[in-house]
Amino acid sequence: MRTTFFSFMLFLQLAAFAQTKEKIYREKYRPQFHFTPAKNWTNDPNGMVYFKGEYHLFYQYNPFGNKWGHMSWGHAVSKDLVHWKHLPLAIPEKDSIMIFSGSCVVDENNTSGFAKPGQIPMVAIYTAHIISDAAKPDDYRQAQHIAYSIDEGRTWKKYSGNPVLDINKKDFRDPKVFWYAPQKKWVMALVLPRQNIVQLYASKNLKQWQHLSDFGPDGDIKDIWECPDLLQVSVEGNANKKKWVMFNSQQTTVQYFVGEFDGIEFKNENPAGKIYRQDYGPDYYAVVTYNNLPVNKKPVSIGWANNWMYANSIPTLPWKSAMSLPRQLSLKKINNEWILLQQPVSELRSLRSNLFSWSGDVKHREILPVKSQTFELDVTLNIPVNSTGGLHLVVGSNKEFIIGYDAKAQKLFIDRSNASDTSFHASFDTLSRYEAPLANKNGNIRLHVFFDKSIIEVFANDGEVVLTSQVFTSEKNNGIQLFNNKGTMKVSQLKFWQLRSAW
Ligand code: FRU
Repeated sequence: MRTTFFSFMLFLQLAAFAQTKEKIYREKYRPQFHFTPAKNWTNDPNGMVYFKGEYHLFYQYNPFGNKWGHMSWGHAVSKDLVHWKHLPLAIPEKDSIMIFSGSCVVDENNTSGFAKPGQIPMVAIYTAHIISDAAKPDDYRQAQHIAYSIDEGRTWKKYSGNPVLDINKKDFRDPKVFWYAPQKKWVMALVLPRQNIVQLYASKNLKQWQHLSDFGPDGDIKDIWECPDLLQVSVEGNANKKKWVMFNSQQTTVQYFVGEFDGIEFKNENPAGKIYRQDYGPDYYAVVTYNNLPVNKKPVSIGWANNWMYANSIPTLPWKSAMSLPRQLSLKKINNEWILLQQPVSELRSLRSNLFSWSGDVKHREILPVKSQTFELDVTLNIPVNSTGGLHLVVGSNKEFIIGYDAKAQKLFIDRSNASDTSFHASFDTLSRYEAPLANKNGNIRLHVFFDKSIIEVFANDGEVVLTSQVFTSEKNNGIQLFNNKGTMKVSQLKFWQLRSAW
């Protein structure tokens, strides 16, 4: 009898466990093919590096809660940038030192001396955010520290000789380190946020660093600079021609510069002062790119799909924040300026199912016979010169998320003002409409849209313009329609796929 009773209790416990397991990654608003931690808060992607067949993704993580705090490095790996496996916390906060953003390298030649013969160390370079008096969290200091792993990133040791770079500044952060092969040295880009400066340093062993040069202020200097990156990107259609791209983030948005780097200094070749955006939407920040990718792979970036204005208040539980889709990067010269082209990585196609195709004329509205909040849609629109046309998503109960193109003004815009719950933070509603200049090609524009429960990413004209936006709406608002204001809009090659969950 006793045994039966205990077996019954065990059965109930297992059943309850199975049920909770089933629910995780199926919660309201939970993205199905964007990376999110199983639970708790995340912000910037960190330490992105490819090593021995695995894409590592570290990320700013709070192990103790669903708001920013106790910053540590969370960790996941993937073989295809689509399906992720969670690993234990990689680098934890300790002794009032938080682990802020940074990067990771594969130290193939053991320049750091962290490995024994035959081993290859992975080295993480991050900002130590040091608070000496808990009662005064604003009296912090920032210096650069390193940690290493000799077991493919599974366990990490902080270097006993930290800091490796300290210039006695309050704000000095977000080191991105890469190997500069022509001069056989490591190069670090990091920011002096309030001065709008990216500093470059060099090292032979990742432990001693010499100052090389400063870049900035330039472009957008209305806010602080964070999370710089510097990398080579090839010109579309000419893989051998490469330019250097510098990224940095400004509190709620990301800009880039394109030019040359000679191992010492970065020189911007686009018009000085002009602002180039990687993403024109409200929810894209802190972008960085992968280190150590296979030689034939184009650079891949990931950003944080959220906005500091309201990030801590978004209505998601038990996790908060997602990463953007991984994007493959290349460059194109348009009107004598270097423009970044971005494509969602092709590995995402493995999630496609249930193709639906359509083409035809749209005079006012065309409701598609497919409904979804987890899909990919690729369409070419020919919008009359005096009209505005595009797509409405989350259609239902008088809601719509607008992706529109104003053919006269040659502007692409998104508008979530009548699409989302906005009650969780006052600024979410005010940050609803975003636009980007976009020339049409013989009257055509191509929209390649990914909708993932609470994240929408729009790639326009082969990735010349991208907009990322969060939206929090009822699962019932899942209709999709084409719209056009004047004349007839011609729609060709509309393809729609349901996307399977990667979780
Ligand atoms: C950017 C940022 C970084 C910093 C980290 C702290 O979002 O503010 O500058 O290292 O987040 O979590």
